[in-house]
Amino acid sequence: MGKPISIAIDGPAGAGKSTIARRLAKELGFYYVDTGAIYRTVAYFFDLWGISPKDIDGITRYIDELTIRIEYDDEGVQHMIMNGMDVTDDIRTQEISQKASLVSAHAIVRDLLLDMQREMAETHNVIMDGRDIGTVVLPKATVKIFLTASPEVRAKRRTDELLAKGQKADYNKILKEIQQRDYQDTHRAVAPLKMARDSVKLDTSELDIDGVIAAMKDIIAQKVTL
Ligand code: DC
Repeated sequence: MGKPISIAIDGPAGAGKSTIARRLAKELGFYYVDTGAIYRTVAYFFDLWGISPKDIDGITRYIDELTIRIEYDDEGVQHMIMNGMDVTDDIRTQEISQKASLVSAHAIVRDLLLDMQREMAETHNVIMDGRDIGTVVLPKATVKIFLTASPEVRAKRRTDELLAKGQKADYNKILKEIQQRDYQDTHRAVAPLKMARDSVKLDTSELDIDGVIAAMKDIIAQKVTL
């Protein structure tokens, strides 16, 4: 077998990366690696310890206490194991989203997670999504796609998603949070969110999921025979 294929998907929060990547991975028989979940796990760990995601001294002091493992269940669903505990569901809150965005700005955190992400791509065909996959983690990825949509469309999708789950959702608050996260993720000094030069940009504002999947398959087919 030759070198594994890697598909890097980057883009801002709420662009639909995980929904799309998960479906494509299933169709192609690739591993789906959600790197945001890894940063969320780090944020959750420091949250449990009562350490602010901005407190670089506290983070430096306690980071060695953290072990993170990624496991896949029979359905191919990624589970995050923090110090032996499955925290897959616990990390999916708005509070942890914000904290993950802040904690991920520290070089010490990013360095810790780099090898883990690269190892996955060295041993498996992967679709990996995040903010710096095409620029830093897998600069030689077989295919790079930058998935985006306007902040308003992303906020609307998130609002509808929460309402569909029977949860409360305030569009204006969600829009503000998305804009704040965009700002943090694009303005940090280390590995900020930006489009790799050899990435293909796909704006999903006017597309439904099937439309995005079809467009992604076209982009992938130009680089790989599947
Ligand atoms: O994709 P997500 O919303 O689950 O990611 C949560 C935060 O983690 C995001 O705001 C920024 C950070 N992150 C990152 O810095 N680099 C990545 N490759 C993935 C996520």
